[in-house]
Order: sequence, then structure tokens, then C-alpha cells
Amino acid sequence: MPAAATGDTVLVLTHQDVRSVLDGHEVSILDAVRRAYILHSQGVTAVPHSAFLRLPDQPRDGAMALPAYLGGAGPTAGVTWIASFPDNIERGGERASAAIILNSTSTGRPEALLEGSLISARRTAASAALAASALGTGQDAAGVTLVGCGVVTFETLRFLHVVHPDLHEVTVHDLRRERAGAFAARVARELPSMRVRFEPDRGRALAAASLVAIATTAATPYLDSRTLRPGALVLHTSLRDVTPEGVLAAVNVVDDADHVCRADTSLERAERLSGNRSFITANLGDLLLAGTTGIRDPRRTTIFSPSGLGILDLAVARFARDRALRANRGIRIDDFLPARDEFLPGRADFLSGRADVPPGPAGVDGVGGRTGEDRDADFAAPGEAGVGERLTGAVPA
Ligand SMILES: NC(=O)c1ccc[n+]([C@@H]2O[C@H](COP(=O)([O-])OP(=O)(O)OC[C@H]3O[C@@H](n4cnc5c(N)ncnc54)[C@H](O)[C@@H]3O)[C@@H](O)[C@H]2O)c1
Repeated sequence: MPAAATGDTVLVLTHQDVRSVLDGHEVSILDAVRRAYILHSQGVTAVPHSAFLRLPDQPRDGAMALPAYLGGAGPTAGVTWIASFPDNIERGGERASAAIILNSTSTGRPEALLEGSLISARRTAASAALAASALGTGQDAAGVTLVGCGVVTFETLRFLHVVHPDLHEVTVHDLRRERAGAFAARVARELPSMRVRFEPDRGRALAAASLVAIATTAATPYLDSRTLRPGALVLHTSLRDVTPEGVLAAVNVVDDADHVCRADTSLERAERLSGNRSFITANLGDLLLAGTTGIRDPRRTTIFSPSGLGILDLAVARFARDRALRANRGIRIDDFLPARDEFLPGRADFLSGRADVPPGPAGVDGVGGRTGEDRDADFAAPGEAGVGERLTGAVPA
């Protein structure tokens, strides 16, 4: 186990810190996400519904909080706070931005604050790739159509390439040609074995492959799954692209029915249309747990619709945090939180057996005249970095 930033130290990981500890570790990220899904199926998670913030007079802008608890070995609790401001793209930035807080499961105190946009994109991509792998892409694994040329489809391509190393034909479609151009340039830099072709006609793009990954910002469904190749597999990450009729006609795999059938997703629309959820065939976690595939129907489209459970963020954030601690990366802040005995001086020492007198008013700064410096010395581990000191060690492989 790494020397944890537990107790009173908060570890802050910037975007570059997170990138440096995640890059090249796709297999471990897939494994972390797989374990999180399995724990969810085993009932050792807590995932309350997300809370949505809408900004008055800014109908396109908002943010979402995803609180979660991930049990099992090394349990983790925390929250993802992710904002979506589509006009950021016009300003040359990314639509989504995020922060993740990890809390101690013994004291509840925050232990780590991580830049969350990359974690969110990669856990989402890993989830789509796991589904593709579990559901089987068969003889069509050489090609994929990507609808929406954004952050999530790029990461999805990266992770699909890990589970399907033969994948090399990529057809991309986006409402905005310049997004497709930038996407293709990035693929050429980072995934050079892939051949990317932009298809401006959506119908032709969708007909190009029987593996389709969709991550757009569409709010109104436009895609009837019955127009796709027979037996196609759709990784429906953006959740609002497929018409409710198209959902009802498909084999549907989700991550959690209660989560995915809300917030006006295609699945909630399908539930409203049909009056029930019997169109949902399986949960990905159950399939991973049982090792079962074979639920696809060669005549119907199979659609994987992941709500994006906060436990996936926790799983990948924990992986990033542990690697950063091992590599001495990030910023450690020792006085972010109040000292444990700030409000009841001396109590922390008393509870931990380091003081043999109960808390009381004696002394300037607590029991027996202990000073703030004394307390700090008690809580500081030997050789720890100073307050706010930046640590930039090499990342172990
Ligand atoms: N289910 C999950 O777990 C999960 C997690 C993260 C993101 N998401 C969703 O994935 C989607 C994509 O996220 P992102 O960060 O990649 O967004 P992004 O803004 O980086 O990219 C979205 C792209 O889709 C394009 N687009 C919009 N509408 C389109 C349409 N009708 N047809 C074709 N292209 C279209 C845009 O031009 C843009 O290039 C968002 O809706 C986001 O909410 C889901």
C-alpha cells in the first residue's frame, strides 16, 4: 500500500498529474471499471441519484453531482462534480470540466481532490469498451463508426483499440466538419494505426460499420435503431440519440435501470411509451459477473446505454490517487482541514492515547498547555513534505 494521504493531508492532483498517472494504463483502468461494475451487481456500492444544477437564463449550461460509495477491498467514497457549458467549445475550450473529491470512509474527511474531466472521459470510454468486449463484436471488430467527434468518442476509440487490437477502420460523423478534422488529426498523432474517414452523411456513416459509438450532445432523439445494419452493436453513451421506438425494438443492456431511466434519456422515453422497463434485457455488471455473452440477436440492434455511475469515477480516481502517492506526484496540503482537535482542544490526543488527561480548558492552546506547534508535530509523519509543497516524482510503470 502506498503511504496514504490520509488523516489530515489533502492530496491535490491537477490535470497534468492525472494524465501522467493514467496514460498507458488502459488495461488497469478497464480492470478498475470492471471491478466497480461487479461490486455494483453484488450490492456493495451506494449510488444515490445524481443532482442536477441548471443555471437560470442559461438553458444549455449546468452541472451534475454524482455522489457514490464503492465497497470491497479498500472502500472509497466521494463525489464527482461535472459541469457542461457547450459554448466553451466556441471559446476554444472543452465543453465539460470536473472535479472529484475522495473522502475517507473512516472519518469522512476529504483525502484527495482530483481534476476530473480526463477521469470522467476515460471511465466512460472504458465502460463502452467493456460492453463491446462482453457483448462481442465478432467479425466486425475491424471497423467502427463514431458519431460525435468529442472527448468521449476519442477516448472510446482508444479503449476499443485495447479490447480489439485489430480495429483500424474508423468512420466519423459530426454536425461540425471542423470537429471531425481536429479529431482525425488527433487520431493520427495518438493512434496512428487507425485510418479515419469523415462521412458528412449520417445515414452512410451509420451504415459503414456494425459497431457504432455515439457520444453527441443531442437533446432530441433522431436515430431509429431499425435503420442500422442487422445485429449492430450501439454504444449509446450520450443516452438521448436513439428514438424510443428504436430502443423498444432493440436488445438493451444498461448499467443501472433506475439511473438510466431518468433525465429524459431515450430509455426513460421508451419507458413512458411502453409503460414498463421490460425492454431492458440485462445489466452489464451481471453479464461481467456471470461471464455470459450470447444475448445479442443477429436480426436486432443491441444497444448499451450507460448512465455513468459515480462508482466508475471513484474506481479510476482511486487508481490515479494511489499511483500519484507512489510517485510522489501532486500537491499535499496539510492544513486544508481544521486540526482534529481545533474545536475540542486536546481531544484528538486523548482519544488516540497520546494524552492521559481528558480535554479541558488548561493551557493556552489546549490540554496541558500544548501549543499549535506541538499538535502539528504530532500529526506530521517523519519526512513529509511541507504545507502545499509540490511533489513531482517520476511515475512508476
Ligand atoms: N453516459 C456517460 O457515462 C457519459 C459520460 C460522459 C459524457 N457523456 C455524454 O457524452 C456526450 C459527449 O461528451 P463529450 O465530452 O465528448 O462532448 P463534446 O462536446 O466534447 O463532443 C460532442 C460532439 O458531438 C457533436 N454533436 C452534437 N450533436 C450532434 C449530432 N446530432 N450528430 C453528430 N454530432 C453531434 C458536437 O459537434 C461535438 O463535436 C455528452 O452528451 C455527455 O453528456 C456520457
